[in-house]
Amino acid sequence: MNIHTYEKFWLIGAMVLIVAFIATVTYGAAGLGIAMVDDEGGTIAPDEIGDHDKFGDPGVHQVGENEYDVYVHAYTFGYSPDTIEIPENSEVTFYVTSSDVTHSFTVVGTNVNTMVIPGEIAEITAQFDEPEEYGILCNEYCGFGHHDMEAELHVVP
Ligand code: CUA
Repeated sequence: MNIHTYEKFWLIGAMVLIVAFIATVTYGAAGLGIAMVDDEGGTIAPDEIGDHDKFGDPGVHQVGENEYDVYVHAYTFGYSPDTIEIPENSEVTFYVTSSDVTHSFTVVGTNVNTMVIPGEIAEITAQFDEPEEYGILCNEYCGFGHHDMEAELHVVP
């Protein structure tokens, strides 16, 4: 093998790698972009919350015999809706997003506790068996009204 052949070998090798790399970036990123938009939980532009078919009119949607989806819009300084009512013995999936800064969605006394980041939809599922009234609050500092940011979850018979 002379020097010329040897260089050509590496040149072709390098070109194959570059093409493979570009293909990975191009098609990989395109695939990822589609997945991110359609992903459960997923993303939402903060200025499009009002136009969203669920977040535009936030609240409780029954999706099964004992299953509910609850859409919540968090903002400085409150939640919409500010009172959520679901029947006992329900499996509830909360979808929460913020239109301004980072908040949390924390149902006191349960394992429902998630950060709520603008642009992202937080998704968390929990089972509620017994009738009870829960407080919902924000435990991410979000400004002067942070301590007044609250809502209620009523599990009713
Ligand atoms: Cu919202 Cu603290």
